Amino acid sequence: MTNIGIIGAGMIADVHAETAKRIGTNVVAVFDPRSKRAENFATKHACVHEVSVEALLAREDIDGVVVAVPNDQHAELAIASMEAEKHVLLEKPMAMSLQECNDILAARDATGKVLQMGFVCRYSPAAIKAKNMIDQGDIGEIQHVQATLLRQRGIPGLGGWFTTKARSGGGCLIDIGVHLIDVVMHITSKTSPSRMRGKCTQQFTEKTYAYEEMWSTPKEGGTFDVEDRVRALLTDESGTTFQFDVAWATHLPDKTVKDGLLIEGSLGALVVDLWNDSITFGYSENGTPSTKVIDVSVVDAWEDAFDGEHKAFVRAMESGTLGHDAGSGEDGRLVQRIVESVYASNTTSQEVPVK
Ligand SMILES: NC(=O)c1ccc[n+]([C@@H]2O[C@H](COP(=O)([O-])OP(=O)(O)OC[C@H]3O[C@@H](n4cnc5c(N)ncnc54)[C@H](O)[C@@H]3O)[C@@H](O)[C@H]2O)c1
Repeated sequence: MTNIGIIGAGMIADVHAETAKRIGTNVVAVFDPRSKRAENFATKHACVHEVSVEALLAREDIDGVVVAVPNDQHAELAIASMEAEKHVLLEKPMAMSLQECNDILAARDATGKVLQMGFVCRYSPAAIKAKNMIDQGDIGEIQHVQATLLRQRGIPGLGGWFTTKARSGGGCLIDIGVHLIDVVMHITSKTSPSRMRGKCTQQFTEKTYAYEEMWSTPKEGGTFDVEDRVRALLTDESGTTFQFDVAWATHLPDKTVKDGLLIEGSLGALVVDLWNDSITFGYSENGTPSTKVIDVSVVDAWEDAFDGEHKAFVRAMESGTLGHDAGSGEDGRLVQRIVESVYASNTTSQEVPVK
């Protein structure tokens, strides 16, 4: 059985521990500087809570670690883990800057350890099916993708680290937008972003936001200096366009705009809801418009996706090589380039090159 450690005992660490249990990976130890949280986590998941990151990384019975901490610590802890001879499953976003992404990649190359990005959406059954169809040419050349992820009220821990730019690197774009960007680039196998026009806004404040859906209660006197809404239009070198529409919160009535991907190609189009058990294929037969609903095998799409991510990590640890469908460090860096171009375009109010 593969043994892992978890760095961080927060919300997503719990999801990782539950996933590990489902797929038969052994969570040996956890570390979190909030010792009470770590203790509760260790009790719940029957593992040891270590006194420091160093102590966790020094354990010889751990093959790999999940790094599940605030974004400003991703680079430091991913690098320390690989230098301690551990394989790494790194939560998204990869890091706070392209420079940090490069540092992580350099550490991976120097140590020869596996680095897998926690881009879980690419393992959703619907995403896998859509990618298979595109890879086998069912919709021809990709022309345009419209990718939407709008929460009506879903700012995580308003006032805490998620909404503090110095700790998170940004708002809804770097939190949930990175999932959308990764799954789109992965499904379409597009890796050459070229030009970006992006707009970021903050529509809500602590005073105008009603706490209907939250991951934690608002923090008194906390910081909220990041965007809660993003619209971005990306063009790649082949001329394909990608429209990203992301919100942590919006005034739009709930569900008026459907979340998911609309992928238009020269021969057909796909409507993909990542968490559904079917996708819709639009095409033309003898000049007549046709539609097919294609079933996708789903047990629980969210759990299926996390299971897929962890199974990929186990395979990578066992073989020493990341599978080609798993999120790589290069994929993390690609997403970071696109994210930074949105912020650069927003700052200058101009279309900018993707660097
Ligand atoms: N894949 C997903 O769908 C998904 C969902 C949520 C969050 N995330 C990502 O996971 C990461 C964690 O998010 P979260 O929602 O669990 O946040 P959280 O605030 O619930 O938990 C973060 C935990 O990290 C701990 N921590 C801080 N510094 C640490 C250190 N040096 N060593 C060990 N632990 C440390 C904190 O005490 C806290 O308990 C973020 O990067 C976030 O973007 C991914």
